[in-house]
Amino acid sequence: YPIFAQQGYENPREATGRIVCANCHLAKKPVDIEVPQSVLPDTVFEAIVKIPYDMQVKQVLANGKKGGLNVGAVPILPQGFELAPSDRIPTEIKEKIGNLSFQNYSPEKKNIIVVGPVPGKKYSEIVFPILSPDPANNKESNFLKYPIYIGGNRGRGQIYPDGSRSNNTVYNASATGKVIKILRKEKKGGYEITIEKTSDGRQVVDIVPPGPELIISEGEFLKVDQPLTNNPNVGGFGQGDAEIVLQDPLRIQGLLLFFASVVLAQIFLVLKKKQFEKVQLAEMNF
Ligand code: HEM
Repeated sequence: YPIFAQQGYENPREATGRIVCANCHLAKKPVDIEVPQSVLPDTVFEAIVKIPYDMQVKQVLANGKKGGLNVGAVPILPQGFELAPSDRIPTEIKEKIGNLSFQNYSPEKKNIIVVGPVPGKKYSEIVFPILSPDPANNKESNFLKYPIYIGGNRGRGQIYPDGSRSNNTVYNASATGKVIKILRKEKKGGYEITIEKTSDGRQVVDIVPPGPELIISEGEFLKVDQPLTNNPNVGGFGQGDAEIVLQDPLRIQGLLLFFASVVLAQIFLVLKKKQFEKVQLAEMNF
């Protein structure tokens, strides 16, 4: 969950560029981000994050049953950019947002936004309303080209913040030896697998929670770390980036003025040529 990232990491983007969700959401799946090529200062615009997946598939839930996937995302905006206040969001963007509630990553990091978990069926495309800064009142921002980073996830993670595994991952043998007993827990589901170690004949018990499916059977010989179960995970995390230009309106006006002057200069050159042709005609003697 994004809250795990908020609690565990001051900055969700590591120095390597990796976004921390990937530390617990181990599978990689694509995400896509769409932003305007440029924005004017103090303007609300939309950033669209797409987290595609096959809506037909189900994942294992914490209780071992199957269910739908949820999604979540974390856009990391340039300094000064932030979530647009709701009274400034135009109605057409509001309609696209739906009932999502966005949050700042932390009170100090208003340029990082988190959302989720929310049902993936409804929100596999998430629209973030963003307000651009005005360099006139915000000394930290400048008229420049900036990168925007985005992380997006569907499905449950593999590791909890305390380091323990979730039931949405592979379980491996803790020792090399022979499987002498597989106990299926009737009530809650899951298995207790007793392995007799080849090295000293002692028994170890590996516990598999409800969720992953066993791929070994009694009597089999296992090597340490050999998978006992399949990998039930159908989700995954992905990250991407985009570029956005914070555009000075004066520059656009200047550009238009320049274009107008070029057009005028061309017209005057043609007029001048016509005038000169007349002079040439008048001077011609036959
Ligand atoms: C579940 C997103 C960071 C561990 C989820 C879910 C989402 C999500 C959407 C719900 C999936 C579902 O129900 O289908 C994110 C995002 C993160 C992030 C966007 C980064 C901003 C982390 C981190 C950890 C983590 C850092 C580990 C410390 C988990 C686990 C679950 C989960 C274990 C399953 C919880 C359960 O159902 O018991 N995450 N996550 N996540 N996340 Fe994350």
